[in-house]
Amino acid sequence: MPVRLPTPSRSGSGLSYLIAQSYRCLSYPRQARTSFLTLSTHTFSSSKAWKLKSRHSTAMAGLFQLLHMRCSPPNDPQDISFSGKVVLLTGATSGLGFEAAIKILNLGADRLIIGSRDIERGKAARMEIERATHRPNTIKVWELEMSSFQSVKSFTDRVNAELPRLDIALLNAGIWNAAYNQSAEGWEETLQVNTLSTSLLALLLIPKLRRSATATEPAHLSVVSSQKFVRVKAETLQTDDLLLPHLNQQVNFNGPKQYSISKLLLEFMVKKIAGLSRNEDGSHPLIVNTVSPGFCASGLGRQYNQWYEKCFMWLFTKLLARTSEEGSRSLVSATVQGVESQGKCWYSDTYVNESRALTTGPHAEELQEKVWAEVIAVLEEEAPEVSIISRGVYQGV
Ligand SMILES: NC(=O)c1ccc[n+]([C@@H]2O[C@H](COP(=O)([O-])OP(=O)(O)OC[C@H]3O[C@@H](n4cnc5c(N)ncnc54)[C@H](OP(=O)(O)O)[C@@H]3O)[C@@H](O)[C@H]2O)c1
Repeated sequence: MPVRLPTPSRSGSGLSYLIAQSYRCLSYPRQARTSFLTLSTHTFSSSKAWKLKSRHSTAMAGLFQLLHMRCSPPNDPQDISFSGKVVLLTGATSGLGFEAAIKILNLGADRLIIGSRDIERGKAARMEIERATHRPNTIKVWELEMSSFQSVKSFTDRVNAELPRLDIALLNAGIWNAAYNQSAEGWEETLQVNTLSTSLLALLLIPKLRRSATATEPAHLSVVSSQKFVRVKAETLQTDDLLLPHLNQQVNFNGPKQYSISKLLLEFMVKKIAGLSRNEDGSHPLIVNTVSPGFCASGLGRQYNQWYEKCFMWLFTKLLARTSEEGSRSLVSATVQGVESQGKCWYSDTYVNESRALTTGPHAEELQEKVWAEVIAVLEEEAPEVSIISRGVYQGV
């Protein structure tokens, strides 16, 4: 028998309407999904008050989008096999990475290498993951501090020396800092962890990944991004100076904005790396993409710990977040996508719409080249092999 959904009053304020809608959607997710979407589309298109002209309505549109996302989690990739595969995963000590590790082992991976900045925390996660999957002695925990280029280099040296092959690399470690914090190497931490070190790690892993590919099975490099990159405004990147030193200054720092910018720059880097992964004969030995899990309950916002921030986060998460398990589904399914996903951002079983992002449009190429040139210049200083890998040359690396 069809369930009658309570109809929220249309006369209340935007917030009460949203809360009523949230309640409706969360209480009857399956039935509400279609009607909710129809109703919200109708609401946005027919009522002047809800037109996406003001900042208020844009924010409401964002909230509706989150609600829809919360009510329609991505498919759980249970019908794939990682049997025989060697997988590398960063950021597996909590949240999405931890849940992804469980899935990867349940899907039969031969070996899982976890990069963790704290070996004890990494070992504790290993115990829990192995216990949950009944796959003892499958995980290795290797030290990786993403706020240090030297640590990234040592980690990839170890990958090259000790792993016979590497089929999948899922680069998930990331941060969302509230306060300005500089790494020992002089970079604002969000920028270093999310953009610079993740790009360095990706570049240094490419030769090994390419060598592990077979004629029928490409290797995969998936990098965890965030669809927040779509909302970055061109003004925030405007400077007569170089972009990275500009973003590195404390006066230009704003936690949430810096997070989105760090992921936008990462998108540019990954798109360019994907462009390099095609062989001259047109074959693709390596699939390179990014993945956005959507808003998920995890430890990511742990630095926003003022009482009012905690209250807001708690409510926001309760109403609108996916679980980490749901988000991790996208992380895992990103690593089995085909050549059509090259350079794209995988999100909820499809791809992020980038039509309004700085990654498309008239200045996208110019901006991408600027970001690429600046990031590569920084990374070459730290690891000379970057200069040949970034030109698409992999022999002897
Ligand atoms: N949750 C969301 O709503 C959401 C949405 C979009 C994208 N994402 C992305 O998803 C990824 C995972 O985030 P999460 O939500 O699962 O957050 P999380 O629970 O905070 O997990 C972050 C992971 O990254 C690791 N990490 C952080 N800084 C590191 C460093 N300097 N060196 C090495 N490892 C480091 C953490 O290790 P420690 O245990 O050592 O701290 C942890 O394992 C991030 O890239 C994030 O940007 C999350």
